Amino acid sequence: MKVIRLSKSCISKKEKNAVIKVLNKGFLGMGPVVKKFEAKLSKFFSRKVVCLNSGTAALHVALQASGISKNDEVIVPSLTYVASYQAISATGAKPVACDIDLENLHMCPHDLKKKITKKTKAIMPVHLTGSADNLDKIYLIAKKYKLRIIEDAAHAFGTIYKKRKIGSFGDISCFSFDGIKNITSGEGGCIVTNDKRVFNKSRDIRLLGITNDSEKRYLGHRSWISDVKDQGWRYHMSDINASIGLAQLQKYNLLSKKRKKICKIYDKEFKDNKYIKIFKKNYKDISPHIYIVRIVNLKKRDLLRKKLSLKGIQTGIHYFPNYKYRKFKDTPKKFPNTEKIFKQILSLPMHPDMTLKQIKFISRELKSLIYKNDL
Ligand SMILES: Cc1ncc(COP(=O)(O)O)c(C=O)c1O
Repeated sequence: MKVIRLSKSCISKKEKNAVIKVLNKGFLGMGPVVKKFEAKLSKFFSRKVVCLNSGTAALHVALQASGISKNDEVIVPSLTYVASYQAISATGAKPVACDIDLENLHMCPHDLKKKITKKTKAIMPVHLTGSADNLDKIYLIAKKYKLRIIEDAAHAFGTIYKKRKIGSFGDISCFSFDGIKNITSGEGGCIVTNDKRVFNKSRDIRLLGITNDSEKRYLGHRSWISDVKDQGWRYHMSDINASIGLAQLQKYNLLSKKRKKICKIYDKEFKDNKYIKIFKKNYKDISPHIYIVRIVNLKKRDLLRKKLSLKGIQTGIHYFPNYKYRKFKDTPKKFPNTEKIFKQILSLPMHPDMTLKQIKFISRELKSLIYKNDL
């Protein structure tokens, strides 16, 4: 049985040839290809860009470069990949979980206000699935309390929010280019900002804190005699990864179009369904990364997942509430919306290589399993 994967890297000859070109040059580290990828991304966002070896590294460095450290608190939604939490705790700060909005699974502005303390230094909204609902309200709250915003935009590459591209406005936005994201560089990520200080600091932090080494690396050199002022990490992107990213960036419109189309077909299939609820999204503007439905009036979401798996359909749950992890433990009672929605969410396969036949098959199987009495 051929399994329909939940997500997948969509790679063609273009990416393969680009990697071979770098391999043939015999210079695989951070060099001119990273510089070119950063320049193209900078044009895409009309802002400064720093490339790193993962989205997690981008978040960690952006937080550190913003001065977040021990004894600080950063507010982050309960429903996100643990990368958001680990990036915050890597700076020594405490991630403070915030409940989500049932309408869109994003940070609840009402609960956000309740979570602000004297120790709060920043807010990290997460653009779960690719949309950025409530972002205006979150920026207003940040302005009122003078807090920084580090957007976890790992899922939202290419999304338009109120006529502007995510990353092209606001404080700091961090993207991920891991294998299954809207565009991939194999592994990778970037920080997008207009804050010169954050930009310069981030460039040093990613290269073990060595000051002003980036420009030399772009030319295939490095600093032999230099200074190190701050804690740094070995987080820079390599030319191999940047070459994949550049090839993907050229295909971005096509990849995004395919993702949007899949979501729209699913939406139509589940429209007005009594048991399968969709999240209403405007796919004209949103570049979707994940497709989530809510399975309501059914207690056995996990059994449904097992049955779909027997039919060769992979599904997922985005995500396990972070306050349930031992490291980030908090009282579930404080998160009524997350507690409710976590039992219902189900992610369906969504990636540009899917065929119409597969989408129809998944929709049919899901609907038929739900209407069978044994569920
Ligand atoms: C919401 C979110 N934040 C951050 C990350 C981290 O990105 P990366 O895997 O590139 O480190 C991911 C990756 O899946 C993510 O989904």
